[in-house]
Amino acid sequence: PRIIYIDASDNQFEADVEVGSNVMEGAVDNMIDGILGECGGVMSCATCHCYVDENWLGKLPPMSEQEEDMLDMAIEPKDNSRLSCQIEVTEELDGLVVRMPKSQY
Ligand code: FES
Repeated sequence: PRIIYIDASDNQFEADVEVGSNVMEGAVDNMIDGILGECGGVMSCATCHCYVDENWLGKLPPMSEQEEDMLDMAIEPKDNSRLSCQIEVTEELDGLVVRMPKSQY
């Protein structure tokens, strides 16, 4: 599936990300700046914070309590904030659009 990443300056990047991998790994593996994923996806860093496009928000599985707690540590969280390491890529998410924050710190 194709995931579309848009940075804070509106630059758009597309990556073909494997099913079963996650949106953070898709960015890191394709050297897309803006998502760091420092903890490797175990929900202890919040440097994989992203904003999910409103059209896609409802198509994602709900957040765990741990993800919600961790998002409090993110910079400028919004209602559509998610940790990209917690978004598992599925065929249904082909075309998913996520925006990346200005900074992860
Ligand atoms: Fe650390 Fe997602 S990669 S919380």
